Amino acid sequence: MNSHVSKTRKRVLSGVQPSGNLTIGNYIGALRQWAREQHNFESFFCVVDLHAITVPYDPAELRAKTREVAALYLACGIDPDISTIFVQSHVPAHSELTWLLNCITPLGWLNRMTQFKDKAAKQQADSVGTGLLDYPVLMAADILLYHADAVPVGDDQRQHLELTRDIAQRFNHLFGETFTIPEAMIPLSGGRVMGLDDPTNKMSKSETSSEYHAVYLLDPLDRARKKIMRAVTDSGRDISFNDDPQRAGVNNLLEIYEALTGKTRSEIEAHFATARGYGDLKKEVADVVIAALEPIQQRYREITGEQGYVDSLLAQGAERAAEIARSTLDTVRDRMGFIKTHS
Ligand code: TYM
Repeated sequence: MNSHVSKTRKRVLSGVQPSGNLTIGNYIGALRQWAREQHNFESFFCVVDLHAITVPYDPAELRAKTREVAALYLACGIDPDISTIFVQSHVPAHSELTWLLNCITPLGWLNRMTQFKDKAAKQQADSVGTGLLDYPVLMAADILLYHADAVPVGDDQRQHLELTRDIAQRFNHLFGETFTIPEAMIPLSGGRVMGLDDPTNKMSKSETSSEYHAVYLLDPLDRARKKIMRAVTDSGRDISFNDDPQRAGVNNLLEIYEALTGKTRSEIEAHFATARGYGDLKKEVADVVIAALEPIQQRYREITGEQGYVDSLLAQGAERAAEIARSTLDTVRDRMGFIKTHS
């Protein structure tokens, strides 16, 4: 069966790398959208372990984090009865399509990727792996294998999505209409949550600059509160949304509050108009963050308490994903001129 034909609803696909501890940035920018959109789309959420090995890593940690991230998908509200949750490396078609797409992706497109430049700059020039440069092609393969119509991600993935669209268009042009051209789905509020220790830099699960950089989804709640109370702000008092880089700390706290409460900006500014200072703002932001984390942590404990539960869901998810991926790959191989085996 052609994977296009079996598509009954529009699809989304997205993923998180099992590297570091998931932050409230991952939740607000991505996972929360997924939980919402799974009711509107046929959904595929993968733990992208092959992406996590593009920088130096520890195998034992990769193994533990892969399960942890899958359990967090569930804890954040992804329902395995309606969405497919799987591990990228369990579906070998991701690696194979990457190779095929590599051969039609101009090197210049990859050299322009800002995330590559940023990540490569953090390593010794002569130890940067080829996989790091190729990272966005693997991401394109993830998305294109499932003919995803939309990809719910944070703002930092915008350029990778554009590249995915370019690769899909190039393939369709060279070999005939094959791939769906996906759209990025980036939240209007909270698409780029900034570091609490340095609000001019994106909050990142792999950043280790300071223990006050990020609130992690599995942080003890009193620790999460402490981190927010310590967030870097400025010396003013005015609590309003503002693009001025000097005010980035307050703006970031307001955006977190906006994303988690769903209130409008004018409601929020009116609400804080009588606040006595940034301390009041921080206290309320900490309250809404903790209200979001508490049920996630509760569910996480339940899910991981059940021996073998996550692994068995991942096995089912891989089977379902592989069926679609294999079908897409068969079409791709055929279009590209590979002969079939006679078995
Ligand atoms: P990763 O693992 O860095 O992040 C996972 C998701 O979280 C979003 N995100 C944020 N959103 C708002 N504010 C932040 N500070 C923040 N930090 C991270 C990311 O945008 C992302 O949506 N390349 C991807 C993983 C990937 C993928 C894919 C995504 C691989 N294949 C296919 C979508 C489709 C990444 O590194 O995400």
